[in-house]
Amino acid sequence: MSSSTRTLLVTSALPYANGPIHIGHLVEYVQTDIWVRFQRGLGHRCAYVCADDGHGTPIMLKAEQEGMTPEALIETIGEEHRADFRDFGISFDNYHTTHSPENRACSELIYARLKEAGHIVRKDVAQAFDPVKEMFLPDRYVKGTCPSCGAPGQYGDNCEVCGATYSPADLDDAVSVLSGEKPDLRTSEHYFVRLADFETPLRRWLAGGGRGGRPPVQAEIANKLDEWFDAGLQDWDISRDAPYFGFEIPDVPGKYFYVWLDAPIGYMGSFRHLCARREDLDFDGSWTPDSEVELYHFVGKDIAYFHTLFWPAMLHGAGFRMPTGVFVHGFLTVNGQKMSKRTGTFVKARTYLDHLDPEYLRYYFACKLSSGIDDLDLSFDDFCRRVNADLVGKVVNIASRCSSFINRHFGGRLSGRLAEPDLYREAAEASGRIAALYDSREFGKAMREVMAIADRANQYIDDRKPWVLVKDGATREEVQDVCTVGLNLFRVIMTFLKPVLPRTAERVESFLRCGELSWDGIASPLLGHRIARFEPLLTRVEPARIDAMVADSMETGDAGGSASGMDAGACDRIDVAEFAKVDLRIARVTAAKLVEGADKLLEIRVDVGDEERTVFAGIRAAYPPQSLVGRHVVVVANLAPRRMRFGVSDGMILAAGPGGSDIWLLGVDEGAKAGMRVK
Ligand code: 2FM
Ligand code: ZN
Repeated sequence: MSSSTRTLLVTSALPYANGPIHIGHLVEYVQTDIWVRFQRGLGHRCAYVCADDGHGTPIMLKAEQEGMTPEALIETIGEEHRADFRDFGISFDNYHTTHSPENRACSELIYARLKEAGHIVRKDVAQAFDPVKEMFLPDRYVKGTCPSCGAPGQYGDNCEVCGATYSPADLDDAVSVLSGEKPDLRTSEHYFVRLADFETPLRRWLAGGGRGGRPPVQAEIANKLDEWFDAGLQDWDISRDAPYFGFEIPDVPGKYFYVWLDAPIGYMGSFRHLCARREDLDFDGSWTPDSEVELYHFVGKDIAYFHTLFWPAMLHGAGFRMPTGVFVHGFLTVNGQKMSKRTGTFVKARTYLDHLDPEYLRYYFACKLSSGIDDLDLSFDDFCRRVNADLVGKVVNIASRCSSFINRHFGGRLSGRLAEPDLYREAAEASGRIAALYDSREFGKAMREVMAIADRANQYIDDRKPWVLVKDGATREEVQDVCTVGLNLFRVIMTFLKPVLPRTAERVESFLRCGELSWDGIASPLLGHRIARFEPLLTRVEPARIDAMVADSMETGDAGGSASGMDAGACDRIDVAEFAKVDLRIARVTAAKLVEGADKLLEIRVDVGDEERTVFAGIRAAYPPQSLVGRHVVVVANLAPRRMRFGVSDGMILAAGPGGSDIWLLGVDEGAKAGMRVK
């Protein structure tokens, strides 16, 4: 690849310093990291910065709850975040905190310039005030009855039942979630940025502020922005009253910058912190409106508004450049559902790392990522299948097959010639297409291109059959040629995969003794070269490891239970109220299979109306799995998920009988539908 060297400043969104990193967060860090590693691989100077988002009411309250200062809390959580990112191979050049002197200086500067230019206005705001905690309450800290539909227990900003939006003062029977007291309505003066002042520069930026005069945002986001413009840009409240954990507004005692004011400025603060130790980077020169440095932000679609309106407006208003690109991605679902602690699909980064290799997830996300904003699904079955089939079965397989012949019969030395130049050229020539796909964040398509090369390499080896050639003295030398072609194709493939699989790529560099895998290096195949002994580069995903990870991610009480399923006292009568607690539902069996290593169990997928679940049931002797598919059964839908050796059982299918083949599922009449409650 030849293109002139560029300087890029790249960011991922700053995670709040009040909770752990989970696999949903990782979509973005992995996406950004792949892109950054790719750009660096092309020889561009690329600074990747991030930080913990350390301010705001939730962090202040969490610290209070934990009996620590907010400073101590964000320090502790910051350490955990750093360790998680490091272990997932996220190659930040700097990971800072928004609660830093650099960020304070940048925030104060931007505020001063906005104020100086007349973009800040002051207005009185009436807000819910907790008389016991003596603090103003963010909308989410007030609950009450929806004024629209009467649903109880709704938050102060919108109703989850009817979707109405309102302010906390509109709720009936409003209470503070902190003290349980009825909040007062109190007025205080707030500071606002007049966003409407920036409509023209924002529209100009959106039309052509990206690289080469292209739009800096995806088409879906541009459409959304049009809607926001049409609705009219509202003044943005950037102040909060004490008590608050954040930066106090200069000359306004007791008032603080709202966390969303200093959070994006945290990108600047982190970069400034980096520039202090990197002479090749120029802080001031990176922020001038005519800067040659390209500025890219990767963010989730929930915070696109902040990054495509507020942040560019603040930058422009303060005399700085605007971003070159804001790349928005969708959310992660797991097994087709929102991540959930109940079912163990809300997996923390650390829990994942306790069980599985981070490179698997990096690859899986790469396969699922595109330049669009659609959500992406992590299906554990698909994850297992893809990693094992692609990375282990296709890619690593090339190296393990070929290196065994080279090491055993040729002293580890590759042939001095490339026997299939066309095949090699075809693979090498894919580099332009693959690079373009990486550059445009079409990682899924890039992975498909790479796997197609791996398929051709395996096909070539299968056709030439070195294991047959090696048996005959006359053809033995050809084995070296075939394996040399195979290992060179493997080297090209691993060069393409290096942004996604950095640790595996390092192991490959040692195994091939080829120095750093680089796009430039593809032009010169390894010939007459000695490789090292083959060491396993990546092992298969064991489904049991996924089960264990899911089990560890579950928030349940006692996952045990007596062997008979009948506890002492189980025959005592229960009253109707107790019985009513049991959520008995009609479910439709969508799939069923045998469980390897368990001669009584079946693994059954059931549709319970609003979701699909996996249930293990000891009915194998009575029902062949296929006989169950499509059938309606009765399940206990609110049974706490139970960890078993083979996976997690999320519910119970009801059946009667002494056991073995003498067991009967409860009859359900035709016409019953999945999700119906059993009355
Ligand atoms: O939504 C969030 O998790 C915020 N902490 C993201 C901030 S990104 C940037 F603006 F700082
Ligand atoms: Zn409602």
